[in-house]
Amino acid sequence: MSGEPLYERLAEHYRRVIVAGTLAPGDRMPSVRAFMSRHQVSLSTALQTFRHLEDAGWLLAKPRSGYFVRRPPVARLATVHEPEIASRPNEAQYVGLHERISRVLERAHAYPDVLNLGGATAAAALYPTTRLQTLGVRLLRHRPTLLTEVGTEGGSPEFRQAVARRALSSGVTLSIDDVMVTSGGVDAVNLALRAVAQPGDTIAIESPAFFGLLQILESLGLRALEIPASPTTGLSLEALDIALDAYDNVKALVVVPNLQNPLGCIMPDDRKAELVAMCARRGVAIIEDDPYRELIAGDVCARPLKAWDRDGGVIYCPSLNKVLAPGMRLGWMSAGRWHARVRMLKFAQSRLNESLPQVIAAEFIGSGAFDRHLHQLRERLAIQRDAMSDAIARYFPSGTRLSPPPGGMLLWIALPDGCDAEKLFEAALPHGIRIAPGSIFSNSSRFSGFIRLSCPKPYDQEMEHALRQLGQLASGLAI
Ligand SMILES: Cc1ncc(COP(=O)(O)O)c(C=O)c1O
Repeated sequence: MSGEPLYERLAEHYRRVIVAGTLAPGDRMPSVRAFMSRHQVSLSTALQTFRHLEDAGWLLAKPRSGYFVRRPPVARLATVHEPEIASRPNEAQYVGLHERISRVLERAHAYPDVLNLGGATAAAALYPTTRLQTLGVRLLRHRPTLLTEVGTEGGSPEFRQAVARRALSSGVTLSIDDVMVTSGGVDAVNLALRAVAQPGDTIAIESPAFFGLLQILESLGLRALEIPASPTTGLSLEALDIALDAYDNVKALVVVPNLQNPLGCIMPDDRKAELVAMCARRGVAIIEDDPYRELIAGDVCARPLKAWDRDGGVIYCPSLNKVLAPGMRLGWMSAGRWHARVRMLKFAQSRLNESLPQVIAAEFIGSGAFDRHLHQLRERLAIQRDAMSDAIARYFPSGTRLSPPPGGMLLWIALPDGCDAEKLFEAALPHGIRIAPGSIFSNSSRFSGFIRLSCPKPYDQEMEHALRQLGQLASGLAI
């Protein structure tokens, strides 16, 4: 390092400052004169540093205005392979899968103070803490009985109205009576599965799938039919068609069409329409798990499957936990044909939800603040994803693959041949790093060479160090 010319060391320092988000895209760099005096360097060193950063794509020179920070350039890896479509997928009774997942989670919890790259929630600093706190205090001042009066079955009217209104802009038309509040997405998917199926029934799911869904299926005694999903377009409709021909007892499909977990992909609109039509024709209920849609990069509005639902066959389950406030545990659902049954199950299971988080969320969603927050969150996540993808390309062994997701906080990474994800997970824990091994996203061993990493917080020295370490550990395993 000390052998490097001074301008390269200074450029590296500024690269880190930009990657960490201290200087954001669009920010003006110090003037050449200020730079010289701050770092006690000559004019030629200052200019060399700026040109070096400009050549590497980190700065943009604007005539007569100075140098400005650009979005960090991202080194690209080869993308993840498309899945093979088996002629007939195996129907799995999930007995013991729960234990495999719980073992991984328990191992992770044995190291509580780690950098958690295995979760799927952004750091608290990325959510609107102060604004929500202010709203809560104000609401309690005006409506002190919010904590003591009995709430409303189905959810507070303000909340249901706010989310039903917002759903309109994504092509979903609902009355407030169609909406039921839940304790997040997992609660909604649980209720939906219990409404449409009995223990022993078969449920089609994406492969890989969110491990929480596999836990739910096992806990309800349901059989899962894993349908391959593409890292770019999501669930394979061709494979689903084959599976529905082979099994006539499939009660429902659980699917995450927008920013699938762990793949991060979005199903194109024409395939969404086709999927809804196919399931309606075949009498298969769709449970649409939709916690990440609002995190799609840019201001693109990808529609949920529910927008194509004509006969109430789609049970729509969005959540606010990833997009607004993980601590409020708020979600909602619109259960279509199963509305009355879900309402009964919800009441039998947990009665009413707390009113305060609902009215806070209703106020926030109803104001322009939600869109401003989402805009900022998407921008930040994009920078974090880029910085992490860039580090993975720099530090991971050759043969690593990554398909950049169009939003969210999750990266699904194929490790090179011979590199076992659970071994990497174990090796990383003592170094203070937690990752999610691919093996917990399926009943099969198909994903034992994959890991899921999240980018929960601004890219900083700690992240840089962790990714370098992970890359070294992966290189050791790949040999
Ligand atoms: C696809 C998917 N569904 C549901 C959830 C859980 O959502 P919630 O926290 O709202 O219960 C997650 C969280 O990781 C998820 O990835």
